[in-house]
Amino acid sequence: MADKSQNWILIVTAQTPTNIAVIKYWGKRDETLILPVNDSISVTLDPNHLCTTTTVAVSPSFEKDRMWLNGKEISLSGDRFQSCLREIRSRASDVEDEEKGICIRKQDWDKFHVHIASYNNFPTAAGLASSAAGLACLVFALAKLMNVKEDLGQLSAIARQGSGSACRSLYGGFVKWVMGNDASGSDSIAVQLANETHWDDLVIIIAVVSSRQKETSSTTGMRESVETSPLLHHRAKEVVPKRILQMQEAIQNRDFPSFARLTCTDSNQFHAVCLDTRPPIFYMNDTSHRQVLIINCIEKWNRSEGTPQVAYTFDAGPNAVLIARNRNVATLLLQRLLFYFPPHPDTELNSYVIGDKSILQDAG
Ligand code: ADP
Ligand code: DP6
Ligand code: CO
Repeated sequence: MADKSQNWILIVTAQTPTNIAVIKYWGKRDETLILPVNDSISVTLDPNHLCTTTTVAVSPSFEKDRMWLNGKEISLSGDRFQSCLREIRSRASDVEDEEKGICIRKQDWDKFHVHIASYNNFPTAAGLASSAAGLACLVFALAKLMNVKEDLGQLSAIARQGSGSACRSLYGGFVKWVMGNDASGSDSIAVQLANETHWDDLVIIIAVVSSRQKETSSTTGMRESVETSPLLHHRAKEVVPKRILQMQEAIQNRDFPSFARLTCTDSNQFHAVCLDTRPPIFYMNDTSHRQVLIINCIEKWNRSEGTPQVAYTFDAGPNAVLIARNRNVATLLLQRLLFYFPPHPDTELNSYVIGDKSILQDAG
């Protein structure tokens, strides 16, 4: 075992992009293990634009586990952080660094404490899936630090216990979170449907309408929907299973009209479930009606062209994610957005972020 009187520090940094669901996860069948009521599919974004960077460190001089998020210390006592730390620690292997004279045996990892510093380069808790990038990055960085030998699928089952959507951020490209049916959650993992080189014509533009923290977190919102919305249960049983198959086919065939139709319809149904919740949750109308105007603008454009050019989707927040079928359409889209919805300090709309699908192979 490493000599605890020594003053060494071992550091690992990882970067993980966020992902945006095109078939949404909304509702858990098990709150503790974070098991969903339906499969979901997402696109992992380009890490140059929306990503989390997390540094984890271990040293004999650390007296307890500590974490800083965007420069402020936060508590690690919550069940989700504790589950991730426990699951990673239990899979740790020996770590040796001859140069520094470090040797930690796998059975000794629980005698060491970690310090974690994480930064999101985009608004936290504002409906841009910060929990997805954040928890995926945390699990990936800890796994590297502790020399965990599990594959990405197994790591995804750990990230899932930090935040459901996080399991999908460990892969680039198009990713499916399989709901699984085992009570232990061992088969509720992420799988890559197609890697980041597949369908690289797509361009993603995000309208950052608000960087304010949403009033209802995803966790609370979906719990209330599960308890009160009949539409959620109909959606999970009758609608999503068929949509998942159609979406997989659309992605495989690079069929933009089907992809756009499914993406927009699924986003609208997710927000309908939020409205069907008692009391209703208004993620899209948190700040203004601009989101509705953006939807109208895209719907009109798609109709006038005879075939969809742009897909829209909104997560649990007011920020719009727009997916253009190619670069030419993206240029036109940006021109229209800047004309009709110019960013202005007096309005909530403060910027547009333009990116590709993920250019990352995997997390890291
Ligand atoms: P979002 O739509 O941004 O995912 P959520 O309500 O799902 O919003 O989750 C927000 C929460 O996720 C934050 O309050 C914080 O607890 C956690 N989180 C966000 N970013 C990170 C990060 N980089 N590292 C660890 N946890 C994070
Ligand atoms: C609307 O993964 O943030 O973004 O599992 O409770 O942490 P918890 O919730 P979270 O929910 C994401 C919901 C969504 C849709 C999606 O990403 O699939
Ligand atoms: Co989230």
